[in-house]
Amino acid sequence: MYIADYITGTVIQGLGNGHKLGFPTANVQPDTPVVLEKGAYAAWVKYDGKRHKGMLYVGTRPTLDLHELTYEIHVIDASPRLYGKKIAFKPVFKIADEKKFKSKKALIEALYDYKRSAKYLLSPSHSYHFNTKLDHIHEIVRIIEQARCRMKAQGLDQWQDGYPDEATIRNDKRKKQAHIFYKLLEPAAYAAIVFDKDPYYEKIDGKWLSDGEPYVTVHRIVVADKYLGLDLARHILKFAERKARSKGVQWFRIDTHHDNIPMRNLIRDFGFTLCGIVQVRDGQRLAYEKRVGER
Ligand SMILES: Cc1cc2nc3c(=O)[nH]c(=O)nc-3n(C[C@H](O)[C@H](O)[C@H](O)COP(=O)(O)O)c2cc1C
Repeated sequence: MYIADYITGTVIQGLGNGHKLGFPTANVQPDTPVVLEKGAYAAWVKYDGKRHKGMLYVGTRPTLDLHELTYEIHVIDASPRLYGKKIAFKPVFKIADEKKFKSKKALIEALYDYKRSAKYLLSPSHSYHFNTKLDHIHEIVRIIEQARCRMKAQGLDQWQDGYPDEATIRNDKRKKQAHIFYKLLEPAAYAAIVFDKDPYYEKIDGKWLSDGEPYVTVHRIVVADKYLGLDLARHILKFAERKARSKGVQWFRIDTHHDNIPMRNLIRDFGFTLCGIVQVRDGQRLAYEKRVGER
């Protein structure tokens, strides 16, 4: 699932059962109609200008023999007073379908399970990578296909010529630059983290910040449809930066397509400077550089 924007709403009076269950929830009245399947979701929750980890429940609470459709938010590891406030939420992963549990005890047990999953899903530090374990190569190719389809749907001409393909990934593996990022024990994202000089970066219409010093580059960042919205691309950039720092490499270069707005936003937010335009295999790209941070 992927919902690009936050859903906004107001926290209204609930029945207070959540407190008794040990999972207080804010009942939200969305500002505009929402189409979401019933069930439990890992969700980002924003209030008072800050983002928090949370869970969203969409359903009628059949375990408690209730019938009215509600949108309930449980904020993980905090018990804010939200009644009457404006709130925004973004479901990012469906954890479970709605169920009529046999007892309240069974519901509570499930809620603890959901909370563990939601925390894990929303914590980038809990995703881990394997450098060379590429028996998942076909999953990576599938994730690349998904990204290709999304780009096509957005009218982007990036990667529409079949690149990168399985041979590209095998080559990344051979050069020990292939990184798979896992969620829920399956490949969720991929990136090539490259420390070799990039021939396409030799010539730039503009000016790089650094001159002749070693740099790291990240290519072929892709996230599976199912795991969009979890900030995995940002996590990959952070991961590459940490890796560079540990090798004493002080510069980080990256390029992206002019029309790839999400990537451009991410690159900008990550502190890169736009240095100019480079010519790569299939066209021009915006070229960016930043100095690798202190920690
Ligand atoms: C993540 C999450 C998933 C839930 N899933 C179910 C469910 O599958 N079935 C159900 O009957 N209630 C489910 N509940 C809802 C609880 O019954 C609900 O939080 C409780 O009734 C509190 O509602 P109240 O504060 O309006 O009284 C879920 C709640 C949360 C936070």
